[in-house]
Amino acid sequence: MPRDDSGHLIPGRIGASRQVPGRIPRPEYVGRPGPRPYDGDDRYDAEQVARIRAAGRIAAQAVEAVAAAIRPGVTTDELDAVGHDFLVAHDAYPSALGYRGFPKSICTSVNEAICHGIPDDTVLLDGDIVKVDITAFKDGMHGDLCAAFGVGDVAPDAADLLERTREALNRGIRSVAPGREINVIGRAIESYARRFGYGVVRDYTGHGVGEAFHSGLVVPHYDSAPDHATVMQPGMVFTVEPMLTLGTPEQPGTVEWDEWDDGWTIVTRDGTLTVQFEHTIVVTERGAEILTRP
Ligand code: MF3
Ligand code: CO
Ligand code: CO
Repeated sequence: MPRDDSGHLIPGRIGASRQVPGRIPRPEYVGRPGPRPYDGDDRYDAEQVARIRAAGRIAAQAVEAVAAAIRPGVTTDELDAVGHDFLVAHDAYPSALGYRGFPKSICTSVNEAICHGIPDDTVLLDGDIVKVDITAFKDGMHGDLCAAFGVGDVAPDAADLLERTREALNRGIRSVAPGREINVIGRAIESYARRFGYGVVRDYTGHGVGEAFHSGLVVPHYDSAPDHATVMQPGMVFTVEPMLTLGTPEQPGTVEWDEWDDGWTIVTRDGTLTVQFEHTIVVTERGAEILTRP
């Protein structure tokens, strides 16, 4: 039950990695220090998009299965088991497992953990917020999403942050259109977040996804113009995954963070609550289609 005296998270015990049956194909990086550099395109044809959609659907259904298991008293490792078993039962590989040495099958990030939390023996308590980030690899494609959930009854400011981060993701996605620069997405997200005095995490971004888990294409969640001026084209596939924090940062627009000694868990330096939602999307002729729907 790792919390310190002030209720903040401390690293827990990480159990053994879960097994994936040998019949399920692995991404190329599994069993290696990291992925090979990706030199492919961020644009996909209809057949390829269909495969990303299929992987994204399984990932989204796995998030639903995990959500149904969230309650006070459950550990994040128990949530990992639910997500892992769902993916494997649907012949998908949990993309997180063995990615640059990540030891678990999903990411679970509680309260002040921004992202990349490792499931462990942390017990969820009434009033917590847990972010569940699941990526499925199936038929050569990755689909990646994250959703945040309240545990039991959450405080009004936490519930507001949760709904507004969901809305920030929606606004980012609605700004997508062919011919526009990719930096319009972060502009939409940041301008909405600013209304409420929320912090916007800048150092973790959306990314191209599909054949590669992270293609190299970067999708900021803040207004990065004139940088990140890649023009969106039909068939481009990437994630949008804003991380917003409660409370006004001293330097508007930036969020200070620390990485734990586990090499993964990213937490807000001031311990403030943070929420993330993520979808994988494809740019269409008219806008965007979400590929990570259940
Ligand atoms: N799914 C995360 C993302 O949105 C990446 C997790 S990497 C892992 O990009 F190794 F922690 F799983
Ligand atoms: Co993700
Ligand atoms: Co992602």
